[in-house]
Amino acid sequence: MAILVTGGAGYIGSHTCIELLNSGYEIIVVDNFSNSKPEALKRVSELTKKSFKSYNVDLLDQVTLEKVFFENHIESVIHFAGLKAVGESVETPLRYYHNNITGTVVLCELMQKYNVKKLVFSSSATVYGTPKYVPITEDFSLQSINPYGRTKLMIEEILRDLHLSDDNWSIALLRYFNPIGAHESGRIGEDPNGIPNNLMPYITQVAIGKRENLNIFGKDYNTHDGTGVRDYVHVVDLAKGHLKALEKIINSTGIDAFNLGTGIGYSVLDVVKIYENVTSRKIPYNFTHRRSGDIDKCYADPTKANKELGWKASKNLEDMCRDSWRWQKNNPEGYNEEIKEKI
Ligand code: NAD
Ligand code: UFG
Repeated sequence: MAILVTGGAGYIGSHTCIELLNSGYEIIVVDNFSNSKPEALKRVSELTKKSFKSYNVDLLDQVTLEKVFFENHIESVIHFAGLKAVGESVETPLRYYHNNITGTVVLCELMQKYNVKKLVFSSSATVYGTPKYVPITEDFSLQSINPYGRTKLMIEEILRDLHLSDDNWSIALLRYFNPIGAHESGRIGEDPNGIPNNLMPYITQVAIGKRENLNIFGKDYNTHDGTGVRDYVHVVDLAKGHLKALEKIINSTGIDAFNLGTGIGYSVLDVVKIYENVTSRKIPYNFTHRRSGDIDKCYADPTKANKELGWKASKNLEDMCRDSWRWQKNNPEGYNEEIKEKI
C-alpha cells in the first residue's frame, strides 16, 4: 500500500517525501516538473537511502494519470500539485483555475474510481482573506482576494461536496501559514524560478549577492514596527504535519481543516534582524510602497492541529533562517548547479 504524493518534487512535497520515507511509508510521486526539477527527487532518494517510483505526469492528463492508479496499490493521496504565485494568478487566472481546480477534480475522479478515499490537501491561510483579528482559528469566515486564493477556497468547497456525497471519504485540509527553511542537510530547499515573490527566498538571494537589496513592501502597517507580520513555519515541521494528518485520515472518515503555523507573528524587520544575526550576513533594504493585496497581520492559532493531530511546530525562526541560508549557500543556483556540473 503506497501513498501517492502529487507535486512531490516541489518545495513542501520534497520535504514531506523525506519524512514519509524515513517513517517507513512507501511513496509514489507524480509531478509534471512545471515548477520543480527531477534532481529534487534524486536528492530525496539520496538523503533517505530509499528508492521510490516517480511519474512525470500532468494531473490534467487523466489517461496517463489513470495508469498510475492502475499500476499501483494506492492507499491515500497527499495532494500538493498546484500553481502558487499570487501575482501570476491575477495575470493568468484561467491557467490557475484550470491547473489547480481541474487538476484536483481529475485526481478525485480517479481516486473515486479506484476506491481511494483518503486525501490530505494543501490549502493555505490565504482562504482567510483579510482576517478580522489574529490569531486565526479554523472557524473564521473564509474569503479570497485573488484567483490563487479562490482556487484554494473552491477546492475546499469541492472536497466538502465530495464528502457530503459519500461519507467514506476522509479528507484533511491543511491551511499552511508561511513555510520557509530547508532540510538541515542543505541538499533540498526552495528553488524559485526568476525573481522570488516571497520574503525568505528574496532575503537569501540578497545574502548570497544575487540581488542588491530587499524591498520592504510598506512601513505603515498596523504592527509593532510598521512592517507586515506573518507566521513563518519551518518546512520540515510542516512536512511532519502531513504525517500526523495522514495518520488521522487513515484511521477515520470525515473532512476537517487545520491551521499549520507556529502561532507566533514576526514582522519583515524581525526576520531581517534574525537572519542577519544567525548568518552574519548584512541584508541591505529599502522601504517601498505596499504590495497590492497584502494584509498587516496574519498568524495562526494552531491549537486544533495540536489537540486533534498531535502536531506542534518545534523549530524557531533562528532555525528557519539558518537552514534557508545553508541551502542557499550550498546551492547558489538551486538545483541547476548540479545539472551544469554534469554537462
Ligand atoms: P511548488 O511549486 O514547489 O510545488 C508544487 C509542485 O506541483 C511542483 O513540483 C509542480 O511542478 C507541481 N505541479 C503543479 N501543477 C501540476 C500539475 N498540473 N500536474 C502535476 N504536477 C504539478 O509549491 P510548494 O511551495 O511546494 O507548495 C505545495 C502546495 O502547497 C501548493 O498547492 C501550494 O499552493 C500550497 N501552499 C504553498 C505555500 C507556500 O508558501 N509555499 C503556502 C500555502 C499553500
Ligand atoms: N515582503 C517584502 N518584500 C518582499 C517579499 C515580501 O517586504 O520582497 C513582505 C510582504 O509584504 C509580507 C511578508 O514579507 O508582509 C511576507 O510575504 P510573502 O510574500 O513571503 O508571503 P505572503 O504572506 O504574502 O504569502 C504567503 C504565500 C501565499 C499564501 C500566504 C498565506 O506566498 O501563497 O502566504 O499562506 F497564500
